[in-house]
Amino acid sequence: MSQIIAVTAGKGGTGKSTTSANVASGLAFYGKKTLVMELDFGLRCLDIMLGIKDEVRHDIGEYLNGDIDILTATTKVGSGDNLYLVCATRNPFMEINPDKIIGVCEEMRNHFDYIIIDTAGIGSSVFSVIKAADLILMVTTPDTVCVRDGAILSDFLYVKNCTNQRLIINKVSQRFKEEEILYDLDVVMDEVGIPLIGVVPEDNEIKVCGAKGIPLPPTSPGLKAYRAVSGRILGNDVPLTISIN
Ligand SMILES: Nc1ncnc2c1ncn2[C@@H]1O[C@H](COP(=O)(O)OP(=O)(O)OP(=O)(O)O)[C@@H](O)[C@H]1O
Ligand SMILES: [Mg+2]
Repeated sequence: MSQIIAVTAGKGGTGKSTTSANVASGLAFYGKKTLVMELDFGLRCLDIMLGIKDEVRHDIGEYLNGDIDILTATTKVGSGDNLYLVCATRNPFMEINPDKIIGVCEEMRNHFDYIIIDTAGIGSSVFSVIKAADLILMVTTPDTVCVRDGAILSDFLYVKNCTNQRLIINKVSQRFKEEEILYDLDVVMDEVGIPLIGVVPEDNEIKVCGAKGIPLPPTSPGLKAYRAVSGRILGNDVPLTISIN
C-alpha cells in the first residue's frame, strides 16, 4: 500500500525541503520506490539538493499546463532505481490546481511506494493537497516563533481532520539553547502537541552537501537522524538518540 506524505511547517526556512530530500533518500535507501514532488512554485531547490540540477529537463508546471504527462516530468535521482523527483516550475505566478496535484499523487500510487510532497507556503490550495496526504510531517525548529506557528498550523490541520501528524524537530543545537531563545525539546513537543518522529541536529554538512548537491557522508549526524525518521515511517522500532553539537 503506497503512502502520500506531506512535509509542512508553520514557518519558512525550517527545513521542509531538506526533510523532504533526506527522508525520501532514506526511504529509497531502504529499498522503497520513492517520488518527491516539489510544490514550491517559482522557487525550486530540490534539484540542487538532490544533485540533479543539470539533469532536470521538465517540471510540474509543464504537466499542469497539459504539455507533458507526469512520468515525463519525473527525473531519476542518482545511480539507483528508487528515487525520483518532480521538480517545481520556475513560474512563480503559476496557480496550484489542487485537484490536479491530488489526482496526480493518487495516480503515482500505482508507480511508487512513497510520494513525498514538499509543501511550500500555506494557503487554501496547499491545504487541499495536505489534506489528501496519509501522513503529515510537521517540521519545526525549537525557536519560540517557529514552535508557536507550528502549533497553530498543527491545531488547524487537526480541526480539519488531518490527524495523522508527526513532529520533526530540526536544527537542534546546544549553542542556541545556551542563548536561551530555544525551548527544551519536551516543551516543543508539549507546545506543538503531536507525536515526535525525529530530532535532527544542526549539522553544517546538511547545509554544505545540500548546497553542493552531494550525498551526506555516513558519519553525518543529520544523515543518521533522517535515516532514523525514514526507518520509523517504515514501522521500524528505531530508538531516539540525540547527538547535538
Ligand atoms: N539540520 C540542519 N542543520 C543545518 N542546516 C540545515 C538543517 N536543516 C536545514 N538546514 C539549512 O537551512 C536552510 C533552509 O532549509 P530548507 O530550504 O530545507 O527549508 P525550507 O523550510 O524548505 O525553506 P522554504 O520555506 O524557503 O521552502 C538551508 O540552507 C538548509 O541547508
Ligand atoms: Mg523549501
